Amino acid sequence: MNLEQLEKESVNQGIPIVGSEKGKVLEFFIEFLKPKKVLEIGTANGYSGIILGSKGAKLTTLELDDKIAKEAEQNFKNFKIDAKIIIGDALKTIKSVDVLFDLIFLDFAKKSYIKILPELLKRLKKGGIIIADNITFEGCQDYKKEVMNNLELITLIIQIKDGLSVCIKK
Ligand SMILES: C[S@@+](CC[C@H](N)C(=O)[O-])C[C@H]1O[C@@H](n2cnc3c(N)ncnc32)[C@H](O)[C@@H]1O
Repeated sequence: MNLEQLEKESVNQGIPIVGSEKGKVLEFFIEFLKPKKVLEIGTANGYSGIILGSKGAKLTTLELDDKIAKEAEQNFKNFKIDAKIIIGDALKTIKSVDVLFDLIFLDFAKKSYIKILPELLKRLKKGGIIIADNITFEGCQDYKKEVMNNLELITLIIQIKDGLSVCIKK
């Protein structure tokens, strides 16, 4: 199976993956930054993780649902992605992650974006970036406001579908 087929299959199964348009943005940053260590919050079946890990980065990805995490595990195996899946509530499991990351992709419960942000900033290298999906959703407007105003960050919004925010840590 290739990524296009996985996208079709995911859509058919109602799995809310990032999709190929925003996937292209992820691919752009992976090509541009060539990150060695990537963190993802919200694995689902591994679609976005496959893009994030496609250039050999070590991917750490956090997922609540152990059933979908099993699918992700199989997909990562098929696409030869170097991934570690941590199962549980990311607001708790993030505390066990003792790594500094070059790139973080945030794509889980929108209302929790703001809650996990301090933990992400602690684990983000200087010059590293956080990309957040669905940034126009009502649930994450407090996160959007915070990252737009945080003096430690430079943030831009990419207007594609329901939006992505991209922050760089100064
Ligand atoms: C939008 S999907 C992720 C899609 C995936 N990033 C992709 O594009 O292929 C959101 C995922 O976050 C997971 N999730 C929701 N709340 C969570 C939490 N508190 N901790 C960890 N994962 C959570 C859901 O189970 C779901 O699989």
